Amino acid sequence: MCGIIGYVGTKNSVPFLIEGLKKLEYRGYDSAGIAVVQDGQVQRVRAVGKVVELEKATLLASPHGNCGIGHTRWATHGKPSEENSHPHTDCSGEIVVVHNGIIENFLILKEKLQTLGHKFQSETDTEVIAHLIEENLKHTRAASEEDRLFRAVMKTSNELHGAFAYSVMWAHTPQQIIGVKNQSPLAVGVGKNENFLASDVPAFLKYTNKVLFLEDGQTVVLTPKEVKLYGMDGKETKVKTTKISWDQKTAEKSGYPHFMLKEIYEQAQGIEDTLRTAKEDFGRILGLKTEDLRKIKNVYLVACGTAYHAAMIGKYYLENFAGVTASVDLASEFKYRTIPPSKDTLCIAVSQSGETADTLGAVKKAQELGFKRLAICNVLGSGLTRACGSVFFTHCGPEISVASTKAFTSQIISLYALAVFLGHASGNISQKVFNKLYKELLSIPKSVTETLKIEYDVRHLTKKVYKSNRFIFLGRNVDYPIALEGALKLKEISYVSAEGFAAGEIKHGPISIIDKGTPVIVLMPKNQLFDKMLSACQECRARGAFVIALTTPDGKEEAASVCDKQIIVPQASEYLQPVLDVIALQFFAYWIAKRLGCDIDQPRNLAKSVTVE
Ligand code: M6R
Repeated sequence: MCGIIGYVGTKNSVPFLIEGLKKLEYRGYDSAGIAVVQDGQVQRVRAVGKVVELEKATLLASPHGNCGIGHTRWATHGKPSEENSHPHTDCSGEIVVVHNGIIENFLILKEKLQTLGHKFQSETDTEVIAHLIEENLKHTRAASEEDRLFRAVMKTSNELHGAFAYSVMWAHTPQQIIGVKNQSPLAVGVGKNENFLASDVPAFLKYTNKVLFLEDGQTVVLTPKEVKLYGMDGKETKVKTTKISWDQKTAEKSGYPHFMLKEIYEQAQGIEDTLRTAKEDFGRILGLKTEDLRKIKNVYLVACGTAYHAAMIGKYYLENFAGVTASVDLASEFKYRTIPPSKDTLCIAVSQSGETADTLGAVKKAQELGFKRLAICNVLGSGLTRACGSVFFTHCGPEISVASTKAFTSQIISLYALAVFLGHASGNISQKVFNKLYKELLSIPKSVTETLKIEYDVRHLTKKVYKSNRFIFLGRNVDYPIALEGALKLKEISYVSAEGFAAGEIKHGPISIIDKGTPVIVLMPKNQLFDKMLSACQECRARGAFVIALTTPDGKEEAASVCDKQIIVPQASEYLQPVLDVIALQFFAYWIAKRLGCDIDQPRNLAKSVTVE
């Protein structure tokens, strides 16, 4: 939540800051701001709303400077207003700070600073950082102003509690920005005569793919020519960069009206890329030796939101293919459970961003309980990848739309592959069964490509129902989490009420909310549960529902007699069918939101990465 950015080099930093903030906007869009150092003075421009409002304000103020920092905000402390927008300054207005995260002890610090005479202008926790640096600077001596600022920042960081990443600039050091990371992400882009800093790589990917991912407790000092990295003790440490393989295009809309639509269409590729490394990576990960594997009897899956729905499907896979007992928990709830410690338990954390605070909290608990920890994650260098002993990366490229789509299908595929490999390695499934399952897995990108052709039909169908203010999604077995996901996708971007249920449950209560015309989307691919789903359709229809059957070619005829409309997706094996079914529901949500004129990529009140608990 919140995105920070910085530039130091030989060019005017302003166009880069604005462009980069647009790439980080998915992290929050309540307000935005930039500050540059110009002729030894700080110039600051801030605006409520999206980055485009800031861009307008910048055109009027026309700030110019070779060193600048910026921020896009998802409000936590204080309402979205210009005063609460970052960058924040100290009393002199010469120190500017942008920050992502939460300073837990800000009230104590604020009171202390106020008694020392500091005057605050905002309700934010961030502002204490600027005043604390100002205070610490007063008591710091060094050979140069640059070194003085560095020392004051180090001292300040030691006084802050919480999860944060922040960046500082000072009017007296116009060729230097400093970045600090503690549990919130911070990456540095290493360029030629210019260096960049941001919460996420797409912000500077156009300029460099040489990236340094900071570790918790590290501080980085950027000048146009140098990147210097320091540990918590203030000692300089080696800068190790990673070459990012995504090209800039992956982080742009490339002609699509929305990132969400582009990302829906990228799913076949995302799955293919994820599968490409699966055999080797799981081979290595599961090099958790065979004896160890045989000992794993319990698996806890933890995740939030869409990733939680993928984890729910993972539970079916692990039980069915790997023969282990699996349970799935919302990461935010996992920490309240009483679970016995064990060395033979595996905790699998599923997360696109690898930054979700609740998921990180759940993994911390798993570590305390002595569990082995595996992350299924899409972001290199993220907190989750460091918190887990093993990592399997989904390779679906950067996901920008707040509504998760391609990360979800890659997560399902990863969990399927994991369960199948685990089942094979532990002897739960024979070589013959393994070969069959693996072959089915490899054929899925092709089926996904085929499924993507249904956009036109789904779009047409949404014309009939988009004015409804309540939708119901029904599924069973592996399609139950897909019903939940279909409902989440729809409410997230259309702001209409949508609920997913296990089809067998509706008669135990939810059926009472169905009345004339309520759209009920029933997931009923032709498989062993098809007949039960036919009954569910009939039950809903008898109460006046407008039933939309999502079925496969073989189920088409029978489904026609119990529904008002159909969506036909290709047939896959029972356990891989959810990957195809969800694509139809992603299009469904997209087209309803589009018809309602909603802000699809940046729905109200949300942010892509939820880095607060
Ligand atoms: O980055 P993560 O996968 O950990 O994020 C978890 C959820 O916040 C996320 O899936 C959220 O529910 C999405 N906006 C849903 O589309």
